[in-house]
Amino acid sequence: MRDIALKTETWMPMERTHRGGVEGGVTGSRQGRWGMIRPKQPASRPSGPVYSMRVVVLVSGRGSNLEALLAADLPVRFAAVISNRPDAGALSIAEAHGIPTWVEDHTVHPSRASFDDALSGQIERHKPDLVVLAGFMRVLGDAFVRRYAGRMINIHPSLLPSFPGLRTHAQALEAGVRLHGATVHYVTPTLDHGPIIVQGAVPVLPADTPEALAARVLAVEHRIYPQAVRWIAQGAVRLGADGRVAFELPDARAAEAGAFIAPAPDGM
Ligand code: GRF
Repeated sequence: MRDIALKTETWMPMERTHRGGVEGGVTGSRQGRWGMIRPKQPASRPSGPVYSMRVVVLVSGRGSNLEALLAADLPVRFAAVISNRPDAGALSIAEAHGIPTWVEDHTVHPSRASFDDALSGQIERHKPDLVVLAGFMRVLGDAFVRRYAGRMINIHPSLLPSFPGLRTHAQALEAGVRLHGATVHYVTPTLDHGPIIVQGAVPVLPADTPEALAARVLAVEHRIYPQAVRWIAQGAVRLGADGRVAFELPDARAAEAGAFIAPAPDGM
């Protein structure tokens, strides 16, 4: 299967021609094709952030977290966006920002290891400092995860360690929690269980449906994921040798958030 992926691979730095067309294209199946349209990312800036950290984003779906990352003017270079699904909306978002895209379709691979090998092969072409899972819905094997230890992060729509896995909002409603939220964490071999960088909490309201709760949590995701990447890019957060997240941020910064109590106590 690896052969199939390699045979269909074509470097397509699709730059706009002077006639306004696009050389190459991402028509038909996107599997095995690199695409880059409309270079919007500045290569460097005379003043402002330095694009020193190279980031590869892995996606599977609509890409709202990718969009939030791209909108945040982070001091990083988004080297590529890679999807395991050819129909992921995130691919169009990346292409609109001039970021090379790749589809490594897991359905054409006979095993998880074969997919993981092909995926890491594509990631390595971009020599990333950080791999960001933004709605990437494939479980990655231990070898893959170890390869990127300390430089791969994920966002999960719950306050971990509560509600790992799928249906997190329904799980939260079933459990009757009053606070729910999202977590950005380093990825370790145990699913949805790595060292936590940042969490954002929202209240669970009596009339909530999973959909209503998901929308409230998603808004928090869009705030905490860019913040986590910014801290990592600035060197303010890293994974220590002891497996714990090391912060350069002052404790006062964490304390500023105060307590979030839901429902609010009398007098608040
Ligand atoms: C987000 O809720 C994320 O936490 C979860 O999958 C969803 C992806 O949404 N892992 P999007 O593709 O970023 O819009």
